[in-house]
Amino acid sequence: MLLSPKEKKRLYHQYGPCALVTGASSGIGKELAEKLASAGFDLIINARNENNLLAIKESIQLKYNVQVDVMPIDLSVEGNTDVLIQKIHHKNIGLVVLAAGYGTSGLLKESSLHTEINMLRLNCESVLILSHYYAQRFSEQRRGGILFLSSMVAFQGVPYAAHYAATKAYIQSLAEGMSEELKPFHVSVLAAAPGPVVSGFGSRANMTMGKALSPEEVGVPILNALGRHNTVFPGWLTKLLVYSLRTLPRWGKIKVMKQVMSGMANQTRNTEGLVN
Ligand SMILES: NC(=O)c1ccc[n+]([C@@H]2O[C@H](COP(=O)([O-])OP(=O)(O)OC[C@H]3O[C@@H](n4cnc5c(N)ncnc54)[C@H](OP(=O)(O)O)[C@@H]3O)[C@@H](O)[C@H]2O)c1
Repeated sequence: MLLSPKEKKRLYHQYGPCALVTGASSGIGKELAEKLASAGFDLIINARNENNLLAIKESIQLKYNVQVDVMPIDLSVEGNTDVLIQKIHHKNIGLVVLAAGYGTSGLLKESSLHTEINMLRLNCESVLILSHYYAQRFSEQRRGGILFLSSMVAFQGVPYAAHYAATKAYIQSLAEGMSEELKPFHVSVLAAAPGPVVSGFGSRANMTMGKALSPEEVGVPILNALGRHNTVFPGWLTKLLVYSLRTLPRWGKIKVMKQVMSGMANQTRNTEGLVN
């Protein structure tokens, strides 16, 4: 899927000339970075693996006449998000895409607490630090955009991905609140809440994704929604799943998500309630 020439112009005019994209080496973040480059944005791309970032930099610079800076920094480590901010504070950034994140699955009580806390730091704490900093900067310059990666799991508790869903509920709520707060300052805030997408996410979360969208199917709808809505459910499958759950009460949604996640969580142990 391609951005229309009109959308490229709109995005660059409202949010150019440079975008920071975290989690840009894979999946949704990579797709958003490429689409922004196609609209003429210079990029600052972040993830942990430097070689992956350098390969993406090379591929983007071959295709588009833009400048790409790589920032290989682990944002789950305390203090590192501030290091990133210090390294790029002189850049003329008009858009931040906060896509770095991962999930976990299975029974929370049996998971590694270290991994869960690490996920909380990456999915929430680092996102809070970056969005707080750029909310101030963009408000001062009276333009800019902050794009959060929420998820369709953000809207109810999700058994067998309880803590991951909780991190996304935090992001969804943060984005909705900030969106209204920053409107008077001409700063756009968007929560993108995709359903399942084929990426590195499934293997890191130890989930089988089953029917899922490609990153290419969600990238353009997400960017088209920036500046127009506070939440987007990108792609046909996301819309189908979200709208089919919409009429259920919250407890009913939790039951459905329990069924869905028990099919997705690759937990082999035959534990009460989780037998796949
Ligand atoms: N895929 C889905 O079904 C889905 C659905 C809804 C929402 N989401 C959300 O969308 C976002 C992107 O996920 P994705 O599907 O594109 O997953 P992905 O393909 O695994 O990409 C995750 C990106 O984050 C980077 N990353 C991971 N840990 C990091 C760390 N500690 N510090 C800095 N960067 C880190 C990864 O690169 P390195 O490994 O090199 O660090 C990679 O670039 C996540 O927030 C996810 O929760 C995904």
